[in-house]
Order: sequence, then structure tokens, then C-alpha cells
Amino acid sequence: AFEVELRRTGRSVTVPAGTSVLRALREEALPDLPYSCEQGFCGTCQQRVLAGEVAHRDELLTDAERADSLLICVSRAKPGSGLVLDL
Ligand code: FES
Repeated sequence: AFEVELRRTGRSVTVPAGTSVLRALREEALPDLPYSCEQGFCGTCQQRVLAGEVAHRDELLTDAERADSLLICVSRAKPGSGLVLDL
């Protein structure tokens, strides 16, 4: 599990192993977060990351996009890291 801080919302959400960031955030804090494929190829769930080390698991984003964003349906924090999102 790892922590995701929602900078603008002012909340933190724990993402358990086996649960996507998208699902955890929708269930715990932001039920209207957009998504579609949940498989890392449509880009609908892309969010800006402000801090933390991202383990990217999509096939869509460019290296430039990965510098400050992630697809929250598939990507996670690297072990030992949390994430701070612009949400
Ligand atoms: Fe399609 Fe995340 S919902 S890439």
C-alpha cells in the first residue's frame, strides 16, 4: 500500500495492493474522476503528479508527459514512495 496526497482537495488516500489509484480515489474521495478503459491505453484518467516517484505501467504516455503526469488506472508509486497529485 502507499499514500496518495490530493494537494488541492487537502486529503490523503491509501491505495492498497491490488487496487488502482483510480479506484481508491473514486471510492474514498473523488467519485467523479474520469476514466474509460482502465487498461492504460485511452488516456482519459491522466492526472498531474506534483511529487513522488511514479512506476509507469501504461503504453501511452511519452517520456515528456511522464515527467509530470501519470495514468492513474494502471500506474502506481514506486516502492517506498507516495504520490502527490494535483487534485
Ligand atoms: Fe484509460 Fe486510464 S482509463 S488509460
